[in-house]
Amino acid sequence: MSTMKEPKAGEKLSEKAATEYVDYLYKTLYKYAHEKIYQGAFMTQLRDGTLPLPVMRQFFKNWGHFSLEVNALNAVSYYTHLPFFVRNFDLLGPFCAKIADELISPQAPGHVLVLLQTAEKMGLNKKEMLEDPYLPAARSINDFCHKVFIDGSIVELWGLHVFEESLSMWSGQWFTALTTHYGFTKNDAVYFSTHEEADMDNRTVLTRALQESVEFRAGYSLEYCALTMVDLHAQMKQAALDNPYNP
Ligand SMILES: [Fe+2]
Repeated sequence: MSTMKEPKAGEKLSEKAATEYVDYLYKTLYKYAHEKIYQGAFMTQLRDGTLPLPVMRQFFKNWGHFSLEVNALNAVSYYTHLPFFVRNFDLLGPFCAKIADELISPQAPGHVLVLLQTAEKMGLNKKEMLEDPYLPAARSINDFCHKVFIDGSIVELWGLHVFEESLSMWSGQWFTALTTHYGFTKNDAVYFSTHEEADMDNRTVLTRALQESVEFRAGYSLEYCALTMVDLHAQMKQAALDNPYNP
């Protein structure tokens, strides 16, 4: 792996340096997700069709909570980082589309509808998905997001968003496993076909932000923000393996 130097707080990168660093960050994320998520016990068993349904349920229950809350945090980030998007007006449209899509497609209130559709096939109802408390080990990913979305700078947040790149292949593997081994129709597994497209605009935002100024809190480098999301995603999966859920 490349040993590219991390940008330091207070620096401004040239367009070339910013592009190279963002490229490095995405490659690093991808490699890390491969080790921690794709090669992990949960995804390996899911792909083989040997992941027990109660483990799958526990994961999806906690993931549902997380996805609802992180979409709400995305809406907050529209306000927090609006000045950057006003300065970079060409990015405002894609940013709005990204936030809105989660909330209005296929219709309002948005992705939560497809989440509940896939949950129902797993044997989970709306209360279990949206109101039951998180497992303590599974809530960390949301609490980390809350910390970065609310307290963090724009480069911390778009460093964290690099994580989304790992969800495209992840969704595809879920969709294939559910429709191949678990008796889900394409319609039942709809949550995972809705999330298969990667969001390429994130790269552009981060590249642009690094050219304006690299600002992050001590201990919250971009690489840390991106990779910690993978660790906490893996932690949620382990929490599900340790606590199978039967309604
Ligand atoms: Fe979504």
